[in-house]
Amino acid sequence: MTAIYRAGIVGAGQIGRSHAVGYQGTDEIDLVAVTEPNDRVRKAFQEDYSVPGGYTDMKEMLDNEDLDYVSICTWHLLHEPQSVLAAGYLPKAIICEKPMTVGMASVKRMIKACEDNQVKLVIGHQRRFYHSWTKARELILDGVIGEPQMVTTKSGEGLLNCGTHVIDACRYLLGDPETEWVMGALERKTDRYEREVRIEDACMALIQFTGGAQALVQSDLTPERWSVEEYQVRGTDGVLETDARKVRYINGSTEKWVELEPEYEDPWILQSRDTVRYVENGGDHRGGAQQATHTVEIIMALYQSARNHEIVRMPLGEQDYPVDLMFDEGKLPVEEAGAYDIRAFLAMEPDDRQRYNEMRHEGMRHKDIADAMKDRSGGPR
Ligand SMILES: NC(=O)c1ccc[n+]([C@@H]2O[C@H](COP(=O)([O-])OP(=O)(O)OC[C@H]3O[C@@H](n4cnc5c(N)ncnc54)[C@H](O)[C@@H]3O)[C@@H](O)[C@H]2O)c1
Repeated sequence: MTAIYRAGIVGAGQIGRSHAVGYQGTDEIDLVAVTEPNDRVRKAFQEDYSVPGGYTDMKEMLDNEDLDYVSICTWHLLHEPQSVLAAGYLPKAIICEKPMTVGMASVKRMIKACEDNQVKLVIGHQRRFYHSWTKARELILDGVIGEPQMVTTKSGEGLLNCGTHVIDACRYLLGDPETEWVMGALERKTDRYEREVRIEDACMALIQFTGGAQALVQSDLTPERWSVEEYQVRGTDGVLETDARKVRYINGSTEKWVELEPEYEDPWILQSRDTVRYVENGGDHRGGAQQATHTVEIIMALYQSARNHEIVRMPLGEQDYPVDLMFDEGKLPVEEAGAYDIRAFLAMEPDDRQRYNEMRHEGMRHKDIADAMKDRSGGPR
């Protein structure tokens, strides 16, 4: 089939490459351009994916390329301004990476810009396209474990980072229920950032969904034993577990675990193909901004609950980022001085990046690695 749509990617890093794979696995789309300020990264990306158009400035790409699909694959704080800019050029759809953005006011600005320009907005919670998770969702909605009661999961490396997938997954597995309330707790004693956003050292939340089910989410409380892919769902008549490949369940009528292994397909390709279907036929996209809005709201509600020591009932009133507000209010005093970013290695040169990863694999904390790297370079980065 001849491609009929033109796509461009903003940010040619780790996830920009996954979007390239997604577009190249979609017959209707030609990946024609990329914006990336780092010359070495941009040239390698253009070569690896045969992308003719290379730009250092997103606006220049939008002015020149007449794009139907735009992927926003930069760090979180650029998601809103770059999505809003792209929407003004009237592409058919924007696929913006997770987390959608930081704070509910920012979510609303992104949604408004896309609605005003009739642009479909999809957020990169691509794991919704795991066939194992979709099978688990179907089984739960079919009642194989009775009424779902509790989803449990352990995440890490920041709630806004990996935790966004986890909270999104809890909703997906349960059939995307609305949220009634969130009770959350967090600790922040080090000056911790993730891709330039101030984050917690550790946190947890109990989330009450409509229909009765709850989710218990913890992040960075068990730093070395967590996953964004593994969930247990307990119901009134059984238990179901799933990961990226498998589903298994046991209930009052099965003598032992029933194990299923649905086919695995690249979720970025499925995400991209479903975006074409969404553009052409309408309906819902399982990773649409409506779903990601709930995810951001739950994350912000966890923080707001910790800020005010109260249960937060939805809809969330606070529109700004509660972690920054708490910090400004003196509620999160830093006890171990020295700002560090747990994704700083992404912005490093290859040798330093490898050294960073080696130290991480040795079990060192991000903060200690950051301190060691500063000592090595003779000053802060
Ligand atoms: N969906 C997932 O599973 C998943 C996985 C990893 C990352 N992510 C998300 O993707 C986003 C990017 O993360 P990453 O790991 O790819 O980061 P990265 O650092 O590897 O890549 C980001 C790239 O953006 C470029 N960039 C910076 N400013 C730019 C600008 N103004 N215009 C264009 N490009 C610019 C950087 O030079 C860099 O190459 C983050 O928000 C992250 O949360 C999602």
